[in-house]
Amino acid sequence: MTYYAECRILALTAALAGTMTSLALAQPQPQPAPPKVEGAWMNTSLSPDERADLAIAQMTLDEKIQLVHGVGGRASTAPRSNGGVGMVAGIARLGLPDLQMADSAVGVRAAAERGRYSTLLPSNIGEAATWDPKLAFAYGKLIGRELRDQMYNVSLGGGVDITREPRNGRNFEYLGEDPVLAGKMVAQWIRGLQSQNVIGDVKHYAFNDQETGRSIGNVKLGKRTMRETDLLAFEIAVKEGQPGMVMCSYNKLNGDWACENAYLLDTLLKKTWGFPGFVISDWGGTHSTAKAALAGLDNEEPDFKFFGDALKAAVTNGEVPIERLNDMVHRIVRTEFALGIVDSPPHGRVVDPFGGAEISQRIAERGSVLLKNERGQLPLNGSGIQSIAVIGAHADTGVLSGGGSAQVDAPGTEQSRFGGAPVWFPSSPLEAIRSHAPKAKVEFNDGADPAAAAALAKAAEIAIVFVNQPTSEGRDAPTLALPYKQDELVSAVAAANPRTIVVLETGGPVAMPWIGRVSAALEIWYPGIRGAQAAANILFGDVNPSAKLPVTFPRSDSDLPHPEIPGIALMPKQPPFVRMPDFDIDYTEGLKVGYKWFDAESIEPLFPFGYGLSYTTFAYSGLKASFDGVTFTVANTGQRDGEEIVEVYAGLPAPAGEPPKRLVAWDKVALAAGESKTVTLALDPKFLSIFDERKDEWELLPGEYKIFVGGSSRKTPLTAVVRH
Ligand code: GLC
Repeated sequence: MTYYAECRILALTAALAGTMTSLALAQPQPQPAPPKVEGAWMNTSLSPDERADLAIAQMTLDEKIQLVHGVGGRASTAPRSNGGVGMVAGIARLGLPDLQMADSAVGVRAAAERGRYSTLLPSNIGEAATWDPKLAFAYGKLIGRELRDQMYNVSLGGGVDITREPRNGRNFEYLGEDPVLAGKMVAQWIRGLQSQNVIGDVKHYAFNDQETGRSIGNVKLGKRTMRETDLLAFEIAVKEGQPGMVMCSYNKLNGDWACENAYLLDTLLKKTWGFPGFVISDWGGTHSTAKAALAGLDNEEPDFKFFGDALKAAVTNGEVPIERLNDMVHRIVRTEFALGIVDSPPHGRVVDPFGGAEISQRIAERGSVLLKNERGQLPLNGSGIQSIAVIGAHADTGVLSGGGSAQVDAPGTEQSRFGGAPVWFPSSPLEAIRSHAPKAKVEFNDGADPAAAAALAKAAEIAIVFVNQPTSEGRDAPTLALPYKQDELVSAVAAANPRTIVVLETGGPVAMPWIGRVSAALEIWYPGIRGAQAAANILFGDVNPSAKLPVTFPRSDSDLPHPEIPGIALMPKQPPFVRMPDFDIDYTEGLKVGYKWFDAESIEPLFPFGYGLSYTTFAYSGLKASFDGVTFTVANTGQRDGEEIVEVYAGLPAPAGEPPKRLVAWDKVALAAGESKTVTLALDPKFLSIFDERKDEWELLPGEYKIFVGGSSRKTPLTAVVRH
């Protein structure tokens, strides 16, 4: 009996006997790596494709079917599960291991289930705010290392759906609104992770840009808009990151479910981009057998409703050619060889919490964006301050993390529940602030009563208010406004003390009606296991902030392309919570995603894409531009060393019909106080092109291109015109 049949019986038995809970408590017993087997396919001098063909030639039909679907991730249905969210049964006689899958966007999930520890890294949007591909590589490498430590060989992370919708509950898992920045950052995340011999993925392919109605909504977009926005991020990710897997998304795209959309999965991903790996469905995102298989889906997750017996029957009756099944299996097995999970299986290791915390803190320090700093309010002089009021929920005990399948379990806790309460991590801003101002009187108020908080602030020299916006997979933020009446709290504190500093722990952009009344503001996103220490190091000047926004912060919902989230009005407001009706998500803004919308519509954002302050200042001069690249000088004109993210934007010729500018290149330049450097950046013609739908290819138009260079999308002191 194949393992999959064994699991199916277990699942049916458990379901019938209603003993899922007792079975779920059964301790999963992950198998050690399969015994080394002899066989031509184990010859490491052959290519992954040659080895896959040799292995497939040994397989029975049942064994092939077994590889193209999950068996669930819980011990209840998959006794060999490692406790992750998914598992594909391997073929021990051929030396092909079980695929043990764990969610791992910002750290390895479900560690608590097996009494493990995982490092919580800063949210991916905070990683994006570093604009540093080397840090993205380090981020992915750490997760890959901890996946192997915990005996996983497949990662479910790499989210890159761009921020079309600033209220999307999963923006914390993604890399912002620009496809070039997001694509290049996730590509390095994937490379770092896969460097640890773990199969990486990129998700959710594609246009799962909101959580409202994510498994019902039909996204409607034209091909040019698709290729120049979300799909450009995926194209860069696939070509530069070379993920072993792509996870197709829940939503429909132009009428077809993403996981059976032949244009997305076959025409574009496999034929045009040459993707050699395999497509897995999002959990429950498969909707058919033959249509999905023929459209390019290679593996159903988490179980086998469509790709188990139903697929075997479809192959047997010829509805799905055996060649397609062989291709599905080939893509999976060649990926296993290519990424080393057969030749170098994980052996388990104690996770290194200290090493992980250090990397997490470094990324948090470089991903926190200084938004406002009036009259040099920051950095604080820890030795000179007499009294500080620290205000806001949980600033005494912890920092916030993101919810859903990306949720990491906090040390010493039971496993967090999907859709449960926000999880706070034991990194105390209050303690971190006290450590920087040992002589000061530092008192805490939880912010529940604005008047009490204001009274404490009035009596203190400085007030630091921590505001938070819990977000999660499965739901969007209803508006950009901070929840729990925190705007009232900030306003009350600011009225009581003009030296009020706001520290924001949010999943993405939020409105700040009080921004004109506070003296400083620092966005630390969900800052990871050492988030408090990172924030305090910035507040007290041990670290000079260098991060820049990967998303636009709008002033209000009314400034957005969709003042209300598409479909949110269709959601049932009270029980019985019936299924939402089918609905279209018509992204009528088209190419104008994020800053491109604000530029094209001449709307002033609260804080623009690419914006971020430093404790020093920078000046730009001497731009020389050609169609191939730019050279300019950037100088540190302030009193302290710093790093400047220099940004290059291009405006295409008017006939292109494009938004006013798009990001085409950037770099991060370290400069000592008073130092100048000449920066030379090449321009990738792809990023200066439009996608011509008629020709179905990228095209560089003739004409005049404007070049903008500076430290923010809305502060580009250097401009030039180049011709093509
Ligand atoms: C979820 C998510 C996906 C995750 C998967 C397994 O619904 O959309 O990102 O990897 O299911 O948890």
